[in-house]
Amino acid sequence: MRIFAEDMESITESRAEALLVGIFEGDDISPDEKALDASLGGVVAGMRDRKEVKGKVGEVASIHALGRLPALRVYVVGLGKRADFTPEAARRAAGVATKALLKANYASAAFAFFGEASHAGADFARAVTEGVLLASYRFDRYLSEERDAPRLAEVSFTRSGNTAALTEGSTLGEAMAAGTNFARDLANEPPSTLTPAELAERARAMGVSFAMKVEIFEPDELLRRGMGALLAVGRGSVNPPRLVVLRYEGDPGGAKPTLGLVGKGITFDTGGISLKPGQDMHTMKTDMGGAAAMLGAMHVIGALRPRLNITALIATAENMPDGNAFRPGDILRAMNGKTIEIQNTDAEGRLVLADALSYAVELGLAPIVDAATLTGACSVALGPFYSGLFSSDDAVRDQLLAAARVTGERLWPMPLDPDFRELLDSSCADLRNIGGREGGAITAAMFLKEFTSSQPWAHLDIAPTAFADSASAYYDKGLATGHPVRTLAQLALDLAEA
Ligand code: BES
Ligand code: MN
Ligand code: ZN
Repeated sequence: MRIFAEDMESITESRAEALLVGIFEGDDISPDEKALDASLGGVVAGMRDRKEVKGKVGEVASIHALGRLPALRVYVVGLGKRADFTPEAARRAAGVATKALLKANYASAAFAFFGEASHAGADFARAVTEGVLLASYRFDRYLSEERDAPRLAEVSFTRSGNTAALTEGSTLGEAMAAGTNFARDLANEPPSTLTPAELAERARAMGVSFAMKVEIFEPDELLRRGMGALLAVGRGSVNPPRLVVLRYEGDPGGAKPTLGLVGKGITFDTGGISLKPGQDMHTMKTDMGGAAAMLGAMHVIGALRPRLNITALIATAENMPDGNAFRPGDILRAMNGKTIEIQNTDAEGRLVLADALSYAVELGLAPIVDAATLTGACSVALGPFYSGLFSSDDAVRDQLLAAARVTGERLWPMPLDPDFRELLDSSCADLRNIGGREGGAITAAMFLKEFTSSQPWAHLDIAPTAFADSASAYYDKGLATGHPVRTLAQLALDLAEA
């Protein structure tokens, strides 16, 4: 899709098939509405007067232009209250509008959301671009009919008066959305196709396309390096595990430490011998959502090239029950030497991360940020809109919260309190891999902490957010969201600037 800024007197001059005019809730008519109303005989004002449209975010009403404009149709898009008009409100309004445009099969659209100086900066253009491109995402590789469906090919930001800032913002937004959609494609792929080896190959292809250095450790190499936890999780599958190392060198020889991005890449989580119930098990194909998010962030980083060195580690395995599978009662040794008593093979994400985090420590990465669809308990605690944020370092936590405020991806701080550590005590190993029923997201995070040594580290439990159970402005029901690709990429940009 081509996205560009156009400076024109009035949106009515646009040659696009669809015109989108934003309206605020309980507010004055904008110059763009006025111009459209003049052409359409006052119909927009009439709709407002009769409260057919109120201007709430999520509202879209369309009017046929009946030949009175070059455009075929005008969409009146709610932007919410003027005082609450944040980039996230713009992103959502753009997402909702884009879904309406796609339904009606328009090839080109002009957005007039940028009429006022305070809403005409790069941040709003970035947000609208993200809203358009995230809402346009399709996973149609396996659909017989829709593969060749017409697409929205051109989006213009009109009546801007500030095309340089709009272009800057949309370039950033395009990179953010492309990385997110790359992550979504990985996570939506069926697990018979996206095996650990295939995930590693896709990571390699992406890394090579952005001139990154890529290493893939196969089982013999994992064994040599003492990665007994990752190996154990993968042992029940005919698709053996991998550890992928992706190095982006944006600041060769620079003084800053290398940012570490560690992702949980379980390509399918049956639970293993501690088998999961059948209900909703298919959604466990997205149990590599953390790995996908890190690869998506690397995709953004490769496109934007911040001045920072960044290493991504992807720990990928398939968790299957089998004669060879690891069992409850087994004792494993992770790369950092700690022994783990397995009490539930379904708590496998923390095991593959134990080795990847140990390796991140060995490489001296700082800060280390991991993302993992780690616990159902995190969804119970936070509901479906927030990821849990755990951190051993206040600065990293604040940097992530600041990045998340920019992207609209929601994180919520959770405790990492040493009192929880004793819940992981084992009678026969250094620790056990489950902590009991209560505070499951916290004990999982405490488990990970055992493998981070004294490095500054943050953990994102994205079990609540990786997969969308229902549709929203720029997410689709039943598909991966790509959360929190944009926040991780934003963190990298911020650290490069700091
Ligand atoms: N991948 C799951 C967590 C999950 C559940 C993610 C639902 C997304 C949606 C993880 O491997 C898991 O099974 N965790 C267990 C941990 C328990 C055995 C301590 C859980 O949450 O039940
Ligand atoms: Mn599991
Ligand atoms: Zn899992």
